[in-house]
Amino acid sequence: MPSAYEQLAARIRRREATVAVVGLGYVGLPLATAFSEAGFPVIGLDRDARRLQLLRAGRSYVSDLSHQTIRAFIKRPTTVITDRPASLRRADAVIVCVPTPLLKTREPDLSYVVGAMRAVARAARPPALVVLESTTYPGTTDGVVRATIEEAGHRLDAQVFLAFSPERIDPGNSRFATRNIPKLVGGVTPRATRLAAQLYGQVLDRVIAVSSSRVAETAKLLENTFRLVNIGLANEFALLCRALDIDVWEVIEAASTKPFGFMPFYPGPGIGGHCIPSDPIYLSWRARAAGAEARLIDLAAQINTSMPQYVVHRVGEALNARGRAVKGASLLVVGVAYKRDTNDTRESPALEIMEVLARKGAAVSYHDPLVPVITVCGARRRSRALTPSVIRAADCVVIVTDHSAIDYRRLGREAAMILDTRNVMRRAGRVRAAVERL
Ligand SMILES: NC(=O)c1ccc[n+]([C@@H]2O[C@H](COP(=O)([O-])OP(=O)(O)OC[C@H]3O[C@@H](n4cnc5c(N)ncnc54)[C@H](O)[C@@H]3O)[C@@H](O)[C@H]2O)c1
Repeated sequence: MPSAYEQLAARIRRREATVAVVGLGYVGLPLATAFSEAGFPVIGLDRDARRLQLLRAGRSYVSDLSHQTIRAFIKRPTTVITDRPASLRRADAVIVCVPTPLLKTREPDLSYVVGAMRAVARAARPPALVVLESTTYPGTTDGVVRATIEEAGHRLDAQVFLAFSPERIDPGNSRFATRNIPKLVGGVTPRATRLAAQLYGQVLDRVIAVSSSRVAETAKLLENTFRLVNIGLANEFALLCRALDIDVWEVIEAASTKPFGFMPFYPGPGIGGHCIPSDPIYLSWRARAAGAEARLIDLAAQINTSMPQYVVHRVGEALNARGRAVKGASLLVVGVAYKRDTNDTRESPALEIMEVLARKGAAVSYHDPLVPVITVCGARRRSRALTPSVIRAADCVVIVTDHSAIDYRRLGREAAMILDTRNVMRRAGRVRAAVERL
């Protein structure tokens, strides 16, 4: 009689294992479609009724996934889309991709992870592999997640195999997507590592096994902290260069000619999304609890979170130079997603910039080809079409997100004044507008 481990390994190898993905968001949905395309039966579980409705209608809500991919996914007879956690009982492998936000107190909010893991533990029929993908602090998988599984009566490494595998997806990146981004896996036990590596190895080009779930968790946090700190450095350089009357963009371009030991990062209106603003805080929180201090993380976070206010200040300066006040000015924000070519507005600096400017008495409208509606100061606003009359009506156009689909030449031709926080107007050719850069 083969052991539970051997049975599971054989089912994965033959692609007979049913893979459940809990949380069909920016991370979970591409993963679920990738497993389905590779021939695995897939259960997609989410509790967001609106998202499930869109999926059932064959519509994608993740900008990197086409409607066609979703239609093919839901049409396969091997796909189940559900909001019923009990459906997980048929799963051989469960991958959990639920949010890991911060509480108002800026402490980790693991309630989604714990809630999802409780549901998994209740429904699981061993043998089963359970993988956490949500970014979290070191020790989550072999701590609170392991305890949740064991409390439900499962024996770890005999019935349930537990691992962590960080998600590295880069929304809006057309070169790297789920399949060709190398994937780290670290199990709570060596056999869990092997099973998880085997599972991902069926659908991804490259899988790297590390010695533990803690190493995998911490590697992800190093990656995101690296970005946070370097963006903070670029933002600090932008402020320093302005004080010294030097063009920071040219400085970065010049430094980038060094073929080793330098990697360009750029200043911007602030950081957003679900990862960079919060993940490093998970690490600094955990470090503090262990008596260590993450000074660079806290400082970089401080610099980055001050950037939206700095953009507001620069709008005020630009208007003032033309004898105008923010109060009563007509402002057009271009791009409100937190990142180029995505429709994700979570933690987007554009929202803070618009709120503060509106509170100061400006009439603020926006254009974003990927975000048709947003809520600012409690009111819903619709994206305006980028027509010559809309552009001309603005006292200042503020470019916050540099989507590739935006017609920057037209902006440069029609606008009176532009505050460009992304240095995207450099590619717009001859412009009539007065352009201020960050
Ligand atoms: N978005 C990214 O670019 C990215 C990149 C790398 C890592 N991550 C990490 O991946 C995780 C997920 O991020 P995301 O952007 O996909 O989030 P998301 O909010 O887009 O998706 C999460 C989904 O989980 C669902 N959910 C929550 N609790 C549930 C439960 N108990 N049962 C079923 N469904 C549940 C929500 O309804 C939602 O649809 C986070 O930890 C994030 O830090 C995100």
